Amino acid sequence: MDMRDRENIALITGASAGIGLELTRKLLAAQWQVAAVIRSDFPAEDPDIRQAVQSGRLRIYKTANLADFTGLRRTLDDVKAKEPRIDILFNNAGGSFPELSYSAQGREQHYELMTVVPYIIVRELTESLKNGRFKTVINTSSSALKFTKALSIDILERPKTFRKLLGPYAASKLALSLWTQEIAPRLLEEGIRIRSVDPGGNNTLRKGKTSGLPLVVGMLMKLFFSPPTHGAGQLYEGALGEHRQATGVFLVKGRVTELKFKDQARSVLERVHAIYEQEYLGVRA
Ligand SMILES: NC(=O)c1ccc[n+]([C@@H]2O[C@H](COP(=O)([O-])OP(=O)(O)OC[C@H]3O[C@@H](n4cnc5c(N)ncnc54)[C@H](OP(=O)(O)O)[C@@H]3O)[C@@H](O)[C@H]2O)c1
Repeated sequence: MDMRDRENIALITGASAGIGLELTRKLLAAQWQVAAVIRSDFPAEDPDIRQAVQSGRLRIYKTANLADFTGLRRTLDDVKAKEPRIDILFNNAGGSFPELSYSAQGREQHYELMTVVPYIIVRELTESLKNGRFKTVINTSSSALKFTKALSIDILERPKTFRKLLGPYAASKLALSLWTQEIAPRLLEEGIRIRSVDPGGNNTLRKGKTSGLPLVVGMLMKLFFSPPTHGAGQLYEGALGEHRQATGVFLVKGRVTELKFKDQARSVLERVHAIYEQEYLGVRA
């Protein structure tokens, strides 16, 4: 076994900015290899990133938009072909958008990107995860989910109203944490553990990024939120810390936290699974 085979491998979506970028830096510094699924390029001036790309320890999978199944399929087929082993999968890409919008498949954008797509990624990469050392999936959720006042498949897919952060964003993160909880016993039969983790408040504002945050939250973020190294640390701990043997749980500040609307968990899982089978796999056939 050469040195390369001894290194652990993480796949991170949204790895080139914010929390995902800091997680990538942290794992590379700890001698991991990182398969990075990204839409925008990594910062060009970062010598560690450049060196890791040159050495092959950081492998880039470019995607135009993860929420578009055509591009998603191309990207995941490429990952499956080139990454036969994934030790930890971090489903991290996401964010709060400024207005109501819909994916190419016709569902609300937050829900598609942050609830449906992570499910498809888990299903498509199951074989690589089964070959992995940690067999772990970490879904980046948010404690904003506690502000969700009503939840149903209709509300998730075609909301009648929109509120920045506390509307479709929060509901989509809740739905993500709910299917994570619901699928856990089934994935455990395949040896895979899955958790959702709140990375906490992180200042990921930057030039050129349209903020989908309410004005006051944007101001608080600028003044008081931690740098994204904090969120990266929370995800890292969620993956490898004291709860590493737990599955299905939602972690906030390292503590297992109850979810609202648990009675909806099954229908959310059934719905994302149906989308996967009928629309993602169905189109391929
Ligand atoms: N920051 C916080 O306080 C906080 C709190 C709780 C949860 N979170 C969650 O943490 C995760 C990371 O967020 P962040 O704060 O680090 O935000 P960020 O700095 O904006 O990073 C988000 C990453 O996701 C990528 N992404 C977004 N939409 C995408 C799409 N349609 N297709 C492909 N990639 C896409 C972005 O790519 P581009 O660079 O191309 O846009 C970027 O790399 C998100 O899931 C977010 O909801 C953040």
